[in-house]
Amino acid sequence: MYDGEIEKVLISEEEIVQKTRELAEVIAADYADKEVLMIGVLKGAVMFMSDLARALPLPVQLEFMAVSSYGSSTSSSGIVRILKDLDKDITGKDVLVVEDIIDSGLTLSWLLKNLGARNPSSIEVCTLLRKPDAIKVPIEVKYLGFDIPNEFVVGYGLDYAERYRDLRYIGTLKPEIYS
Ligand code: XMP
Ligand code: MG
Repeated sequence: MYDGEIEKVLISEEEIVQKTRELAEVIAADYADKEVLMIGVLKGAVMFMSDLARALPLPVQLEFMAVSSYGSSTSSSGIVRILKDLDKDITGKDVLVVEDIIDSGLTLSWLLKNLGARNPSSIEVCTLLRKPDAIKVPIEVKYLGFDIPNEFVVGYGLDYAERYRDLRYIGTLKPEIYS
């Protein structure tokens, strides 16, 4: 699949599976007496969220939001528009925002402010990936999968021009794909 388009595998399927298990264990301990309401940010977080939810030995509710941040296809501006809002009120809920990747942090920072204003009982972040060298606004991430170099990555939910989301691993694309 996508033969010849991937430059290198950054995080293998096995590493993702293992890390998801580890995160689920920690989250399960932290939320032992609570019901987690996962909020996934479409579309990138879908693969990670569905695997994480099933790895958690706890009842989990799933909600989704779609946002678009103005800017080019590979960098964000911090100006965010809600394309799809939550269907439900989150007042009093224990919210876990599940993200595929934190790059500049601008999108998530905006989202956390927006969700925080809706009076959840608690709100934490679980992200599979983070690019420490790209961070522009500090974000407190309670549950982190992997820190990765400041490179554009695809796979396991992450796309370039809507492709590669269905890859089971995280990788980088050959430069000629972008041109
Ligand atoms: P910020 O910069 O606001 O961006 O933290 C977060 C969103 O930007 C997208 N993004 C990526 N998508 N490969 C992708 O496929 C990447 O390397 C990448 N970096 C950022 C993604 O939608 C994320 O939620
Ligand atoms: Mg994207």
